[in-house]
Amino acid sequence: MLYSDKVLDHFTNPRNVGELPDANGVGEVGNAKCGDIMKMYLKIENGVVEDARFKTFGCGAAIATSSMATELIRGKPLDEALKLTNKAVVEALDGLPAVKVHCSVLAEQAIKAAISDYYRRQGVDPLPIVGDIGECDACHDL
Ligand code: FES
Repeated sequence: MLYSDKVLDHFTNPRNVGELPDANGVGEVGNAKCGDIMKMYLKIENGVVEDARFKTFGCGAAIATSSMATELIRGKPLDEALKLTNKAVVEALDGLPAVKVHCSVLAEQAIKAAISDYYRRQGVDPLPIVGDIGECDACHDL
């Protein structure tokens, strides 16, 4: 089997799908090569991610990684949510085929974009905290 049971589970039954009407941090990122788009909605209170939802217009791996990523950051303080790497998401899903690892970068970037938006709304420059969201290195090789 190319995909782990966890990937198939999160793809067929994604957690936390949809919009969050009272989100106070929203980020959208896209992969220019494949055209897939991920939008992340966060509700942040007292420095903690109280809720996270996503909408992904993309491949199965992108959907499974966004689902797992929202599960991993819910209830976490912002600094921990910011440390979530695409590698950690892939590990939590018991791996992805090598050609699909770039898809998981969208989830990491979408979370960072949403947290940046949150800081901007608070009048805080996100760059020193969140850093440059940057482009996905893996995608350059596609
Ligand atoms: Fe585009 Fe997976 S092929 S994110």
